[in-house]
Amino acid sequence: MRAEASRPGQSDPISPTAYATGHFWYRHGLSDEAFVTPQGIRLDRYARVVIAALKLFGGVSLDALMLARHRGIDARLAEAIDRGEVTQIVEIAAGLSPRGWRFRRRYGDRITYIETDLPQMAATKRALLARGHFLGARHRVAELDALADDGPLSLTQLAATLDPAQGTAIVTEGLVNYFDTDTARGMWRRFAQNLSRFPRGYYFADVYPQAKKVEGLYAAFGKLLGAFVKGRLEPHFETSQDVVDEMKAAGFRRVTVFETYEIAETLDVAQVKGGDRVKILEARC
Ligand SMILES: C[S@@+](CC[C@H](N)C(=O)[O-])C[C@H]1O[C@@H](n2cnc3c(N)ncnc32)[C@H](O)[C@@H]1O
Repeated sequence: MRAEASRPGQSDPISPTAYATGHFWYRHGLSDEAFVTPQGIRLDRYARVVIAALKLFGGVSLDALMLARHRGIDARLAEAIDRGEVTQIVEIAAGLSPRGWRFRRRYGDRITYIETDLPQMAATKRALLARGHFLGARHRVAELDALADDGPLSLTQLAATLDPAQGTAIVTEGLVNYFDTDTARGMWRRFAQNLSRFPRGYYFADVYPQAKKVEGLYAAFGKLLGAFVKGRLEPHFETSQDVVDEMKAAGFRRVTVFETYEIAETLDVAQVKGGDRVKILEARC
């Protein structure tokens, strides 16, 4: 059963943003040519106008925010792998993110990386990874709907294909604010339930605690992006403590919310207005 209406396999309103972010990672040297698409080039051109306007009129760097969230998740995930606690990674709503490719280059056969997304985006990602000759038994793409409780697109079915003796991490980036809070809560519960079956289970994500009423440029940007994806961007938390409380209610036992200035890899962008808006969630079962 799916918690919310949108039809997997058909075009998802959030998916176009994945082309824009996919090209953003490439433009910032984090990705490979194999991930470049005509849609990405086109949408990134529009995104650059918005980014420039935000910078010009509000001094806010969306570049810094994006780099902080991406590098912050990378850093926390890498630490868990380096400690030997995680060898299986399921990235949910991976879009055209190059993280799987970069982590496989860095860790080789020490890890298994499964990139997942709704069917249409998963097919695109699979084709792009195949184009770069990056696919293999330890780097694959699966169709997954983050809102499915059960059935062929559910996390539960995918988790059943993983090695139950290995530490496992779920990653989402740039996803949860597209869902309303109740829908997101259902998803976090599903993540915790599935991760608790492994000897170690981690969830890493970008989070944006903020006052309920956002004004000025951030509000304008939220509306613009909301219009682009034909929805509304939902703030779920007012404070980092709210994030901790939500994750514990979902079933996670240990929860840390990192400021970007607390992570060496994001220290530079944390000094820039925008790079300080995102926080990195590490929740453990
Ligand atoms: C903003 S993009 C982020 C992509 C990638 N994580 C990144 O940061 O570059 C959002 C992604 O969420 C995916 N998505 C939307 N609804 C989803 C759902 N219910 N289950 C899984 N993925 C979903 C879209 O297809 C899209 O690839």
